[in-house]
Amino acid sequence: MPLVPLKDLLTQAEKGGYAVGAFNCNNMEIVQSIIAAAEAEKSPVVIQASQGAIKYAGLEYITALVKVAAENTHVPVALHLDHGTSFEQTMRCIRYGFTSVMIDGSKLPLEENIALTNKVLDVARAVGVSVEAELGKIGGTEDDITVEAWEASLTDPEEAKTFVESTGVDALAIAIGTAHGQYKGEPKLDFERLKKVRSLVNIPIVLHGSSGVPEEAIKEAISLGVRKVNIDTNIREAFVRGARAVMEEKPQEIDPRKILGPAREEMTETIREKIRIFGSNDKI
Ligand code: G3H
Ligand code: 13P
Ligand code: ZN
Repeated sequence: MPLVPLKDLLTQAEKGGYAVGAFNCNNMEIVQSIIAAAEAEKSPVVIQASQGAIKYAGLEYITALVKVAAENTHVPVALHLDHGTSFEQTMRCIRYGFTSVMIDGSKLPLEENIALTNKVLDVARAVGVSVEAELGKIGGTEDDITVEAWEASLTDPEEAKTFVESTGVDALAIAIGTAHGQYKGEPKLDFERLKKVRSLVNIPIVLHGSSGVPEEAIKEAISLGVRKVNIDTNIREAFVRGARAVMEEKPQEIDPRKILGPAREEMTETIREKIRIFGSNDKI
């Protein structure tokens, strides 16, 4: 079926009390593994591309891969720009057929973040494309910051209320203690903050940096209103695990298909597990 807007998937997720997995792609094998997992679990799915993915594979290739994938499956698929930081980038993605874009103005002062988000929303609304924004700073696990700076980076619930009232975005990414990349220890999520945000804003919440977050914490976050869960790092790990196993076992192997095939299978398994944790399985 044709690509669907993220908003449609989130509306269903809200009704069903589950979250939709948003999986980052960079190449054909990753796209195929996301689709295979979604089909096996009978789940809707978001395939997302970061600016880095677009730089690596090219916007034309990413769009073509995901469009073909969606058109050849019965599970609903949204194609989403992950962490778009410029108006121009979001417009390029919309023009190529993305059904959802994230405009990440989280590094900007509140008023500028609102203004940039509204600029994107004006166009996106007119063409039926969904918009995710970010408030608070979701950093990387490599960021070396003080506890005070870390606390200050978390989303202020009152600001979230102002932000949502001033924009009307379809989904809001908030910072409650997760980070992008591999965690050194176990991440501690600020559920009280999430509760407070959800009591003030009635829109789907997005959890970034979800790889490596324990299953129980993810489920708790979903019970408190998270409706989109972003996963990239765990897919990268699965890819390398699958490819490395072949290369270690058969160092003479020179057929890329014999290396990328097992990598693809490993990713599919990882994504299937995530889908079940998010509760979006058996919804198609
Ligand atoms: O949000 C971060 C995602 O993991 C994308 O990472 O910018 O290296 O593609 P990337
Ligand atoms: P991870 O690095 O935890 O997979 O987070 C991915 C993400 O948030 C993409 O936006
Ligand atoms: Zn992210």
